[in-house]
Amino acid sequence: MTLDLDFVRARFPAFADPETARWAHLENAGGSYAAGPVVELLTELFSRAKVQPGWGSAPSQVAAAAMERSRQVMAATFNAGPDEIHFGPSTSQNTYVLARAMRPMWLAGDEIVVTEQDHEANSGVWRRLAETGIVVKEWRVDPSTGLLDIDALDELIGERTRLVAMTHASNVAATINPVADVAARVHAVGGHIVVDGVSFAPHGAVDVDALDCDVYLYSAYKTYGPHVGMMYTRGSLLEAVAHQGHFFNEGRPDTRLTPAGPDHAVIGATAGIVDYYDLLHAHHLDPVADPVERIRAVGALFAGHERELVAPLLAFLADRDDVTVVGAPVADPAVRAPTVSFHSSRRSSAEIYGALIAARVACGHGHFYAHRLITALGLDPDDGVVRVSMVHYNRADDVARVLTVLDEVL
Ligand SMILES: Cc1ncc(COP(=O)(O)O)c(C=O)c1O
Repeated sequence: MTLDLDFVRARFPAFADPETARWAHLENAGGSYAAGPVVELLTELFSRAKVQPGWGSAPSQVAAAAMERSRQVMAATFNAGPDEIHFGPSTSQNTYVLARAMRPMWLAGDEIVVTEQDHEANSGVWRRLAETGIVVKEWRVDPSTGLLDIDALDELIGERTRLVAMTHASNVAATINPVADVAARVHAVGGHIVVDGVSFAPHGAVDVDALDCDVYLYSAYKTYGPHVGMMYTRGSLLEAVAHQGHFFNEGRPDTRLTPAGPDHAVIGATAGIVDYYDLLHAHHLDPVADPVERIRAVGALFAGHERELVAPLLAFLADRDDVTVVGAPVADPAVRAPTVSFHSSRRSSAEIYGALIAARVACGHGHFYAHRLITALGLDPDDGVVRVSMVHYNRADDVARVLTVLDEVL
């Protein structure tokens, strides 16, 4: 079974726009286009129900029902309970609040481990706790590949470890880390594990139960949805953190990690992501009742197509002595997300980026907020790497355009 790309692209209003359609959008690790069901829900909620939810008026009830539906369907998709899903303005903001909420659980001298590979969103907030007496240990990358050695973690954790913060797949190195394996090691010493799934989630199903993580971070604007962050927090951890909402809301799980009022319509529109996945499932496959199963099946369709997209680019770059690819240079979707970051010994990343933009390839260069990783690789963070990132809606000719430009500019 292969992905019906015409069906997929017809579900994205962006591709119907003549100017947008002229670009090969390969900056998906920065942000994906929104799927039609998301745009429809957002339009409907902004048009009909952009009011405070939960009161007796009809628009207010529409708003409340939409938010509740998002909580239910997103939780089911993660294999989590609705009370375990927290919506916040962004992942960076969610971790900021989470670090403040978890700090009272620990004593001075307790330890946390952060990686050199993570986006700053799941790094800086934890490192800053050193100012409050927490001992921060750094899990370093191999400076030639940007990869983490999983066994090296054993040297960093012990009886005082309270937290390990790591990424499921880096937004630059893209290689998938063995989260369940790490979770087992961290739990064995009594710590918690916070996993940044922002770069992994657009490519497949996330089952927090199978990953056995305590927190899973997700940014809906990279998974065909609106600009909102979502954070799975295991129920037992949610009870243990210090409440961050207004004092009179103390008993409510949905406000524990929410110091501010959320954007109701945006939360309501998030369910459109799952509606989109369900449309894909219904178009390609026989009906299945379990939502995690449906997303897993859709994820398998994505993986097959994404492997075809990324393989020629990785093969082209592997053939060149003047180019280094960050992370494992393997097209296998079980090994890496289809995000390719590279640098050249002959051309600056800015020059390569300029040539790609001139050919209407939407991409980027720099450190992508994985500043520490880029520095560890020995690169100037301002110039950094060129990043070309794909998702399932990309076409083979988007990648062919990249290859034509690279052949010339390199
Ligand atoms: C891997 C990764 N983690 C975290 C973030 C931060 O997400 P947000 O923009 O929702 O704060 C990003 C954003 O680029 C990211 O790529």
